[in-house]
Amino acid sequence: EPDELAQAAKIAQEYGYDELNLNVGCPSKRVRSGAFGACLMLEPELVGDCLQAMREAVTIPVTIKHRIGVDGQNPRETLLPFVEYLAGRGTDTFIIHARKAILKGLTPKENRDIPPLDYPLVHAIKAEFPHLNIILNGGIHSLEQGRREMRDLDGIMLGRAAYRYPDILGQVDNMFFGDSHIVTPFEAFAAYRPYVVEQLAKKVPLHAMTKHMLGMFKGHKGASAFRRILGEQTVPRETGIEVYDRAMEAIEAEMGVGV
Ligand SMILES: Cc1cc2nc3c(=O)[nH]c(=O)nc-3n(C[C@H](O)[C@H](O)[C@H](O)COP(=O)(O)O)c2cc1C
Repeated sequence: EPDELAQAAKIAQEYGYDELNLNVGCPSKRVRSGAFGACLMLEPELVGDCLQAMREAVTIPVTIKHRIGVDGQNPRETLLPFVEYLAGRGTDTFIIHARKAILKGLTPKENRDIPPLDYPLVHAIKAEFPHLNIILNGGIHSLEQGRREMRDLDGIMLGRAAYRYPDILGQVDNMFFGDSHIVTPFEAFAAYRPYVVEQLAKKVPLHAMTKHMLGMFKGHKGASAFRRILGEQTVPRETGIEVYDRAMEAIEAEMGVGV
């Protein structure tokens, strides 16, 4: 409901977020039963109302994330009017997951892999609306691939790659924003440690802070021990910073450093 989204937007802004994104590309059953998520692509007026209500409630940017279509839609016919309509109502940033969502018959996980990607359609949308920010999402596995696809676009969004290969995030500023420095996994690990210590003191479980890091040393010696120590030993809630440090020791031991 637009009113509730406006209230939620205000709350999120108070938390200090830089941007709010309305996701109308989610195919999960839970969101479908509430008639939000990807099925909203069939109701552009309602989406327009929601975005407008959110925009009017806050001063930070409000953006949309969506698929190229749902179910029986032909994206080559329906995506352009969808974007055009919302742009006409004031949305200027569209993050497009370049595959359809099939609400009948595919699970959410299958919906992230099975419907074919159509990057050319996203580029075509940009060509049609050069003044809009068009950001491509879906199936981008590496920064090199992302840079190739960026070409004419305004951005790329990584989903699973950021989780599977988190070390690549340390290269983003260098590759896309002209920063001379590449943040190594070692630097990232050390920089994150004070935050982990602080949150552990607030009873945040270690695994909640480390589960996205398991792949960060992929390709390094000791990576599998690192993964095992952080992945397996942090399931009990009470594990502390010593597990974090032990994971790094496993890498250093393989490298012949510090031990
Ligand atoms: C576990 C999981 C949770 C997700 N949650 C959200 C979400 O809350 N909001 C959203 O816009 N997309 C969400 N997504 C979708 C991703 O943002 C992205 O659109 C999708 O994974 C395709 O991009 P990728 O191929 O780079 O992973 C989620 C994906 C996964 C795997």
